[in-house]
Order: sequence, then C-alpha cells, then structure tokens
Amino acid sequence: MIKLPKVIGHRGAAAYAPENTLEGIQVAADMGLEWVELDVKLTKDLVPIIFHDENLQRTTGSSALVAETDYDTIKTLEAGSWFGDSFAGQKIPTLEEAVDVLLERNMGLNLEIKPCPGRERETAEVALDVLSQIWDDHDKLLISSFQHVSLEAAQEMAGDWARGLLLPEEWPENWEEMAQYLQVTTINLNGNTATRDQIEMAIDLEKPILAYTINDPIRARELQSWGVDTFFSDEPDIILENLLTVH
Ligand code: G3P
Ligand code: MG
Repeated sequence: MIKLPKVIGHRGAAAYAPENTLEGIQVAADMGLEWVELDVKLTKDLVPIIFHDENLQRTTGSSALVAETDYDTIKTLEAGSWFGDSFAGQKIPTLEEAVDVLLERNMGLNLEIKPCPGRERETAEVALDVLSQIWDDHDKLLISSFQHVSLEAAQEMAGDWARGLLLPEEWPENWEEMAQYLQVTTINLNGNTATRDQIEMAIDLEKPILAYTINDPIRARELQSWGVDTFFSDEPDIILENLLTVH
C-alpha cells in the first residue's frame, strides 16, 4: 500500500534549487521532505532524463528540442546557473542518476511521465523498465501522467505499481471513466484552479487527492479543509509548516 506524505517537493524543491536536478533532490532531502516529484522524458536516443519542458531553452539556454537531441549532447549542457550562480555546473540528470540519489537519501518518488508529443507509450515503457531494475519499495513510488496512453502503458508494464491520474485545469469530460479504466490509485489535480465542487466529485471516487502546485499556505489550508490529502509545492517547507496536523 502506497504511503503518501502530506507534502511532496515539486521538481525537487523548485523555489530553492534548480528544478529537476540532483541538487534539487538533495535540498529537498535536507529540508526533511519524504518525497519529491520529478518529470521524466526521453532523449532522441531513448535515454530517460529528468526534465520538464519539450525545449531545452529555459533551463540550459540551448534552443534544441529534447526529442531531437541525443543524450551525449544533453549531458554537456549546464542546467543550474539560470537559477543562481551558486548552482552552476548542475546537469540534466538521467532517471537512473536521480534514483541513485533518492535511494541514498531514502526518499519516495512521484515520477511524472512527461512525454514529448508522440512518445507517450515509449516514454512510460523505457522509464518503467529502468525503474523496475532499480526501485524496490513500491510504498514509496507513484507513477503519474496527464497522458492516458502513458498510464495505460504503465498499467500493462507494472500493474501493481500505484498510478496517479493528472487532471489539467480543464477536466476532460470522461475523467471519471478514465480513472476507472486506468485503475489509478490517486487523483492529482490543479489545486490553484479546482473548485470545491470538483474536489467533492474527486472525493466521491474514494482515492487520495493530490493538489499541484501549491505555494500559498492559505490556499493549502483551504484545500485541506475541502479534503485534499497531499500537496505538491515549490516551497514545501512553508506549506508543511502551515498545514493543520489533524485532518
Ligand atoms: O505532477 C504535478 C505537476 O508537476 C504537474 O504539472 O507542469 O509542473 O509538471 P507540471
Ligand atoms: Mg511535473
């Protein structure tokens, strides 16, 4: 049975260290966080890397697309100095490198399958294949995606691993059917835009509800009072401090 924490560090601890880097995981662990959320996608030559955008621009300055760049090039890029000079030298980690740090720090992982367009199935397949060889503790692992094809592939590959259905701001009309069909364990919704009615509909499915990306403690408490169980945050220490302990 998966054991979710109250707060999950978003992309590591994105307000304090460059997102989706090994240093971000270390900073989250140093804060005492139990879990982080990381995004995984594939390089052109099918190496699973921890990266959010389709384009390398924002965090590395390269204008290339991830899906058109081989890992040999990706590994030469620098992905920390955009965030702050003291983070210069941070690289884009492979999934395997990130898991090494997580295991060393005894942390849980929400791995978000974030495929480049058209690679929904293979991204899940490659990432889960790698994970299946190095990750044992399934109480501390949640695979999530906005892409139902990725979740379907995850279900086929590792049916007993917990999966989370990520809902965008606009919920698809058939979201309940998708949750049923994909047999997801959790519902991961946009906590900044979700209404109380939506949260109540999600609660009716009797699954844990996770809200992304909550950096405002007042909103966190409101969502908590509506029944949200777990929060993704860039400032996880602040959210953790402000949640009510009894829920
Ligand atoms: O998994 C929660 C959250 O990370 C989803 O949105 O764009 O930050 O990956 P995004
Ligand atoms: Mg994400």
